[in-house]
Amino acid sequence: MKNLNDLITKYNRPGPRYTSYPPVPYWQNAPDETTWISHLKSKYDPQTGVDLYVHVPYCESLCYYCGCSRIITKNHDVEDVYLEVVLKEWELYKKKLGFTPFINSLHFGGGTPTFLSPANLDRLIKTLLENKLESFIGSIEIDPRTCQTAHLKILSENGIKRVSLGIQDFDPLVQKTINREQSPMMVEVLTEKIREHGISSINFDLIYGLPKQTTDSIASTIEIVIKMRPDLIAFYSYAHLPDRIKNQRLISEKDLPSPEQKRELYELGKKLLLENGYVDVGMDHFALPSSYLYQAKIKNNLHRNFMGYVDKKSQILIGLGPTSISDSSLSFLQNIKDVKEYQNKIESGHLPIAKGHTHSDRDLLIQEIILELMCRNQATIGDKNIPHWSVIQEELLAFKEDGIVEEIGDELTLTETGKIFVRNVAMCFDFHLREQTSTTKFSQTI
Ligand SMILES: C[S@@+](CC[C@H](N)C(=O)[O-])C[C@H]1O[C@@H](n2cnc3c(N)ncnc32)[C@H](O)[C@@H]1O
Ligand code: SF4
Repeated sequence: MKNLNDLITKYNRPGPRYTSYPPVPYWQNAPDETTWISHLKSKYDPQTGVDLYVHVPYCESLCYYCGCSRIITKNHDVEDVYLEVVLKEWELYKKKLGFTPFINSLHFGGGTPTFLSPANLDRLIKTLLENKLESFIGSIEIDPRTCQTAHLKILSENGIKRVSLGIQDFDPLVQKTINREQSPMMVEVLTEKIREHGISSINFDLIYGLPKQTTDSIASTIEIVIKMRPDLIAFYSYAHLPDRIKNQRLISEKDLPSPEQKRELYELGKKLLLENGYVDVGMDHFALPSSYLYQAKIKNNLHRNFMGYVDKKSQILIGLGPTSISDSSLSFLQNIKDVKEYQNKIESGHLPIAKGHTHSDRDLLIQEIILELMCRNQATIGDKNIPHWSVIQEELLAFKEDGIVEEIGDELTLTETGKIFVRNVAMCFDFHLREQTSTTKFSQTI
């Protein structure tokens, strides 16, 4: 086996993160509204209901590294219009389906869901949850800088018991460079309040590879994080794509760590987390053994979708709000990005579809393999009708020789070293990428 640095040099290249297969740039054959609704109806099961995702696009200030879909404004008058139109979109779904679906889970993402006032968030949640399953689970992304105690009260009262806090880094110099200043003290006080409100799961989002980060700064950030003991930690690789994401041009390239330094930051962060009781549950994700994600992992019940890793998933995901993505298990859809256009479409009585994809049999076959690799670090490669199978076999042989995968019978397993190359192994099965039907630039795999 080659040494790790040589492997990183060999395999580190742009590639999808596979929160969906196929990834958005490769979508084709979008279902029209009638077909989309028929897909939903054919996959709907009242026992398992639907998962809802609501995108709240607003943030009060710009974090320079941000790659999310968001609108920066301090004007909270936008809230009322936004609320009306999202609720209208949900009404349209109910009307076109001809029934009110049971809700299995509800996730608020952004932008910043806590941009909404507690009263508006309360109204939104209560309206969407008129018909929820008994086993319902709710989750939300929180910006510690805009979260009030009143938000926590309404979240807890409405059964939104899983929260994710945007932390990124605690080093003052890094925070200044990325235009995101929040003190450990403020986060600690908030974390305590979250627990007092009976919210059962706390995730911290951290990023490695940010400007001005050093091994010392990462070590002290992790030290502070460990003291606060979040149940889950997402330790993301900074995706720097200034050609595509304009605000990232505010970050000076000379302040960014080199690929080798970036890898060192990850390895150090991972080591400290593992030494302090966290377990590696999947790509970029660490968990306490008591957390729901680790429990799902050991019960072989871990899934992955547009929102990342989840333990509970129905056949249908309906995304509400601008840019939201939906999944019917037969097809994907994405909503219009521009808020005004999104609103106009809904006002005209139509779903705000921007683009979509109808799965072919080939897509479904590869989707399953990539999901298994991402969730179990293992996949069953029983079906040799896999597109480009002979080339894939050659590439798998190279992965084996490099100590990245092992193959026993039909089971392909990533080795301990191989886990960081999961995106590369997934890419080997990705026939859309191989056939290059898009020129979109992806972030680096490692
Ligand atoms: C919608 S934000 C979280 C909620 C809230 N807006 C906040 O920042 O606190 C989602 C997460 O995406 C991650 N993120 C954003 N841009 C990124 C990038 N360019 N590379 C890696 N992770 C990124 C950050 O960790 C961020 O917390
Ligand atoms: S990281 Fe979060 S708060 Fe910052 S701009 Fe992006 S979505 Fe908004």
